[in-house]
Amino acid sequence: MHTDVDTLFARLWDKYVAITPSAHKIHQLLAGEEKSNEIVNDHVAFRTFNLEKTSLDKLAAHFLALGYEAKGNYDFEAKKLDAKHFEHPDKTKPKVFISELRVGELSKRAQEIIGDLVKQMDPASVNSENFLYSGPQWKVSKADYETLLNESEYAAWLAAWGFQANHFTVSVNYLQQTQSLADVNTLLKDAGFVLNTSGGEIKGGEDVFLAQSSTMADKASVEMTDETVTVPSCFYEFAQRYEMPDGNLYQGFVAASADKIFESTNAR
Ligand code: NI
Repeated sequence: MHTDVDTLFARLWDKYVAITPSAHKIHQLLAGEEKSNEIVNDHVAFRTFNLEKTSLDKLAAHFLALGYEAKGNYDFEAKKLDAKHFEHPDKTKPKVFISELRVGELSKRAQEIIGDLVKQMDPASVNSENFLYSGPQWKVSKADYETLLNESEYAAWLAAWGFQANHFTVSVNYLQQTQSLADVNTLLKDAGFVLNTSGGEIKGGEDVFLAQSSTMADKASVEMTDETVTVPSCFYEFAQRYEMPDGNLYQGFVAASADKIFESTNAR
């Protein structure tokens, strides 16, 4: 396991931008020419299967070892997901959002496909230092990928990309140019980026103390067992947090909004 939070996030970022060139361009756009404006990460998100070898808790162990603490729990009924978020005592460190697919609620065929993928994985690898940016621990066939895609976009994404950050999130509160999510969205659209409009461009708002938007995922190629296929990779998210009555910024997540953000990796 990593011993330094910043090194872990730097490795995660490198792996993420390698298949998400839009995120790299947007980061440059917001950081400015001189890179004078530091971009603060609100959170980084991961996806996994709720199986023994790959459980949410096994991913979370990497963050708990770095001083992170478990905070909120979330349930996404329609997408068959459970999620937890984690915070570091140092509030300048990104929050971590980990979801896991309740594999047992999928069709028998999908369960078999996922079972066969996870069977290819060494059970010890989940503890290795680079696990959170190790990518897929298996190879999926194009046919199985498509079977999963018909049933769960989430399962198909995970089969293709495995273990790496699904998205990073810009904290709009700490931007130099503007602290308004609507302004950020305009800036992105003017620059030609495509936003996720499921549930509206802005999900949530001041009433739930968190407003979020995201790009639609880039596309990148994955080596499947039989051929190389171009599929949705990762997206970039933008979060604006509001003060609660106690004067502190809300630090949790909003399930109704996150439910729509998951759709940023849907095949367009
Ligand atoms: Ni997110």
